[in-house]
Amino acid sequence: VPEPGPSHGSVLVVDGDERIRRTLERAVAEAGFDCRTAGTGAQARGLVEAARPDLVVVDVHLPDEPGLGLVRHLVAGPDGPAVVMISAQDDPEVAAIALQSGAYGYLTKPFKPGELAIALHDGLRRHRRERESRETRVRLEDRVVERGAAAQEALARLRQAHEETVLRLSRAIEYRDPESGPHIDRMSRYCALLAARFDVDPDEVRVAARLHDIGKIAVPDAILSKPGPLTAEERAVMEGHADTGYRLLRGSGIELLDVAATIAWTHHERYDGSGYPRGLASDQIPLVGRLAAVADVFDALITNRSYRPARSVDEALATVSAERGRHLDPAAVDAFLDQLDAVEAIVARFEEPAARATPDAPAESPAVVTLQEAAAAVGVSASTLRRWADEGRIEAVRTPGGHRRFPLDAVRRLSAEHGRRTAVRPVDPPAEPLAGLARVLGADGGDLAATAAGALYRGGQPGWFAAAESAPAVAEWLAELAHGVGGGRYEEALEATATVMRRASLQGAPLLERHRFLERFGEVAVRALSQAGASQAEVAGTRRLFAALAQAQLDGRS
Ligand SMILES: [Fe+2]
Ligand SMILES: [Fe+2]
Repeated sequence: VPEPGPSHGSVLVVDGDERIRRTLERAVAEAGFDCRTAGTGAQARGLVEAARPDLVVVDVHLPDEPGLGLVRHLVAGPDGPAVVMISAQDDPEVAAIALQSGAYGYLTKPFKPGELAIALHDGLRRHRRERESRETRVRLEDRVVERGAAAQEALARLRQAHEETVLRLSRAIEYRDPESGPHIDRMSRYCALLAARFDVDPDEVRVAARLHDIGKIAVPDAILSKPGPLTAEERAVMEGHADTGYRLLRGSGIELLDVAATIAWTHHERYDGSGYPRGLASDQIPLVGRLAAVADVFDALITNRSYRPARSVDEALATVSAERGRHLDPAAVDAFLDQLDAVEAIVARFEEPAARATPDAPAESPAVVTLQEAAAAVGVSASTLRRWADEGRIEAVRTPGGHRRFPLDAVRRLSAEHGRRTAVRPVDPPAEPLAGLARVLGADGGDLAATAAGALYRGGQPGWFAAAESAPAVAEWLAELAHGVGGGRYEEALEATATVMRRASLQGAPLLERHRFLERFGEVAVRALSQAGASQAEVAGTRRLFAALAQAQLDGRS
């Protein structure tokens, strides 16, 4: 007597023999299951597809295909039914193959109804358990992936926060010592160049090195800005900045600040042991301290000081070479001299403010380009061009800071001789305020950014600049950019752009994407300006601005 109550599940019986099919159908129904039947493999496949039974009972011999073939088909997918095989003969080999193929049971006809019921219940139970554990595994895996991504993002944010904090902190010393701003920009970037050669994280060192002189905030103005040489007493106070910096930065447990503390403490140690504050020698000095010393010595030489004018890059390099193995670690010096092109690119990018506007410079200086730009235009390496300049093959001028610049005319002439199309443009960003651009950015900046991102990602996967999460950072950039260009302060525009691009980079936008975004944004801004009836000068200035900002992104690689 069938037990009343809800069905235990749905079963499909597949057997070529109609009499047996009927018998089985009855037995299955009596065991408390909903039952359907099929006479062939083809029919069974159709019914499984349409009715999705929980379990399929398959005879070994079907009229149109081997029963094992049907079994393999049924268990192939992740959502397939449970399968029990039945056979007229007790054949252990077939039974073994059936079970291997994914069947949960194997019954030999004739069997008692009780045996069938047990096989059905057993098959379904195992099938459910397996499905549940598979689902659990998938859920767990999903969660692991989600957590991994969240952790990555949290880490990136944390890094960003640390970096931002350090940037702000490093401005503290610039307030005390305004000359130190460009020095910090350059020195920290040479440190990154060197770090990469020594398998140290360049980004971390670049940020940490910004704080190397943070201890100077405790040095009185009378000493810090004294025009002449210091007395022995004053010198001791000044030299205290290494210890002060260390005490200020140590013990946070934050890796970035620990590195910064080490650099602050050891950047005035000398390789031969004659430095301060502790007189460490050779590899007693932490590696980052030895790297920072090279970067700091070189850059201090090319920086205007209250007590002496800046030296030229070549003179500074000569001094650095001469100190190899004395003041400076030989390996660090070699790594530095090995990357002169990158060093000069940094020097050119972060010029001394004094070098920009010297009183005796002509009001309208001719268009000049950096060594790198000139070399790229002529199609030779920077070192070749430097040699040619020494040999007088191309006219070069020196900035008051001693940096080489090449008049655009001379570069065009040389590149024509050299058979290259001149693709050079003046790199100098606009110095005049771009009031129209500031207005357009203020009113429609968000729309312009969205248009630029749309053009950037057209036909592809939308990236960072189109993401909703990046909108606040982009909005902040637009506001700062508008402020900077409105006042004719290119550095401010550059700094704001560097900040948003750093964020984009941390959150996965590669260099090319960032560069292209700036180019697109420039095009969109120019179009908007033209529509607003801006002057030609304003449009040209805007073009130059975005060319320079995009260029700076590429320079930032090193
Ligand atoms: Fe220092
Ligand atoms: Fe320094």
